[in-house]
Amino acid sequence: MKKKLLILITWMFIASTSVFATEGMWVVAMLNKINEAEMHNLGLKLSKEDIYNINKASLKDAIVRFGAGFCTGEIVSNQGLIFTNHHCAYDAIQSSSTLENNILKNGFCAKSFSEEIPIPGLTLSLLVRVEDVTAEINAKLNDGMTEAERSKTISAAQKDIVARINEAEKGNYNAEVKVFYGGNEFYLFIYQTYRDIRLVGNPPESVGKFGGDTDNWMWPRHTGDFSMLRIYAGANNLPADYNKENKPYSPKHFFPVNLGGVKDGDFAMIMGYPARTSRYLTSYGVEQAIDVQNPILVECLGLKLETWKKNMDANEGTRLMYAAKYASTANSWKYYIGQTRGLKRLDVAGKKTEVEEAFTKWMSGNESAKAKYGTALPQLKEYYTATNEIQRKALYARLAGNGAEFLSLASSINGGLEKYFAESDESKKQEILKSLRDEAEVFYVEFNVNTDHDVFVALINLYRSRINAEDRPSWHSDLLDKEYGSDVSLLANSLFGNSVLMNKNQLLRFLSNPTQEVASKDLALIIAKSNASHMAPMDALFPREKMSKGQRLFIAGLREMNPKKQYAPDANSTMRITYGKVRDYQAADAVRYNFYTTSKGILEKKDNSNPEFEVPDALAKKLENKEFGRYANKKGELVTCFIADLDITGGNSGSPTLDAKGNIIGIAFDGNWEAMSGDIAYEPALQRTIVVDIRYVLFIVEELMGGKNIIEELKFVNVK
Ligand code: ARG
Repeated sequence: MKKKLLILITWMFIASTSVFATEGMWVVAMLNKINEAEMHNLGLKLSKEDIYNINKASLKDAIVRFGAGFCTGEIVSNQGLIFTNHHCAYDAIQSSSTLENNILKNGFCAKSFSEEIPIPGLTLSLLVRVEDVTAEINAKLNDGMTEAERSKTISAAQKDIVARINEAEKGNYNAEVKVFYGGNEFYLFIYQTYRDIRLVGNPPESVGKFGGDTDNWMWPRHTGDFSMLRIYAGANNLPADYNKENKPYSPKHFFPVNLGGVKDGDFAMIMGYPARTSRYLTSYGVEQAIDVQNPILVECLGLKLETWKKNMDANEGTRLMYAAKYASTANSWKYYIGQTRGLKRLDVAGKKTEVEEAFTKWMSGNESAKAKYGTALPQLKEYYTATNEIQRKALYARLAGNGAEFLSLASSINGGLEKYFAESDESKKQEILKSLRDEAEVFYVEFNVNTDHDVFVALINLYRSRINAEDRPSWHSDLLDKEYGSDVSLLANSLFGNSVLMNKNQLLRFLSNPTQEVASKDLALIIAKSNASHMAPMDALFPREKMSKGQRLFIAGLREMNPKKQYAPDANSTMRITYGKVRDYQAADAVRYNFYTTSKGILEKKDNSNPEFEVPDALAKKLENKEFGRYANKKGELVTCFIADLDITGGNSGSPTLDAKGNIIGIAFDGNWEAMSGDIAYEPALQRTIVVDIRYVLFIVEELMGGKNIIEELKFVNVK
């Protein structure tokens, strides 16, 4: 009896350690028995075939990728309605706003299909199927190849496979071959990409971005970070260019809404498109991030933000024009601050060193492993040691020396004009000019000359204070020092006053019949050219072959060393699933955070003198009166956000958070401050995904935005 009890207790202990999620953004198309068992253990009520199936409708058919993977969205109705984050549609909302009709500020909700606003340029892709092409590509590779030969062979093979699919599918689908596990495996992804996407609704910014950059990357959170779009299709439900006559897309699957809410310990999962992680980064890479990369990123982005903000505060038009790029730059800036802090506090380099030591020890007793993987860590160490200084110079050159926005347009124009002057075929010449004019049209939509002038002056001064004279592009001495007495403002005045790039009409006129004479005298083009010829040789100094080979061998070796451990591949903008539980956490000594927030917190944070914490009167009134209707929980609270121990990163923004049966319970939108090193090392005890509760989303849609039509379009389960 006693023995049995002991066994039971031991079993419970083992079982309880495995009922928490493990690290992993698992490839949806490659879920295996281990994943399935783990998911069932955690509470999933579906099979892996319900999640990914190419022969019948499955959950994957209701997940969409934004563009090349900057965000995720989910289909929630049989008429192609999409939920995603407010910050995913931010750019589209901003572009659809004017000072007179500012839907970014005030919110918007289409009451019928005809009121929905087209979003030019946005595409949403559905995953059709995935194929393992590792054997096909590996057959073309051999150990004698240099890294350059290897990468050339892989690119050629990728192109061949894509061409083969395009031919076989007659252009209905688009294909991508993606690299996994640092180049050890390859998979083919086939998508159907829709191009007529419309904005259906967004809450006012005071809800969609409540807490602003102050609360960003942090828990506890009270942000209604959601927006709504719709996919439109042409004939036969197929992708088509925008056309008024297009019809709402009819999906294979859409997510029903679960209004039942979550409890601590409930199963949860997220499917979406995480863009990039570096979980196999070595201790040397972590040190470079802390010592070199992150401080420079924070310094340069910080200065740009500060300069933008001054200009935005001074002018409402600039504020609106720069809103989206300000938000996304501020998001990165804070990310790198948090990442450094996390890497240090959680001693990520120390933990990586332990793994590296175990790896070296394993090889010391295993000759064949040593022969295959023995060079991996020494090569990586060499790469990082050799690149600290060059990385520093390159980053300052890119972020400060090239940080003003006109320089990116100038560099395209230089490149284009070079081809134009060399080309003899008149129609090809005209094509080049047309593509430059198109680029310019897009560029000026979000370009304010005075603002970029200030950014240029600030960043060039910073660049010169950090990089010695002999390491700068030649224009610094030839032009700035010699002709302008090293006075950046003086140079900026003539540059911004005279360059054809500083005025859209002037540039378009120039680009209708460009002359070498004007091009060779234009200060913007001179500077961009000099910067480019400075950057290219610097870029060639990175011994990238050491890095790519070292990393590939290290990952292969680790997997061989621990054959029973499941290693998830790094994120690469392909569809992933992460599963786990709704869970609170211990943020710091004596600080334990609850797993959900409520509308009470919105009123506590409310400060109408601070745009980040403004609460519209109409909302404040409803929250004060607790008019939550069917969206209240059993205690009568309106839950705003919750957290779960799910493993996501940028690109996952907007992903559905699903219950054990695949119903939507929330929309994932952020991660927490205590685990900002998560893209480099997952921290099970600390890492949480922040989700906006679907009940708060629908409360806002119905009560604040007047979107009864939206509510009627959804399918509900667990309605009270
Ligand atoms: N941290 C979020 C992410 O990277 C973005 C949140 C946007 N909000 C903001 N205040 N900038 O997905």
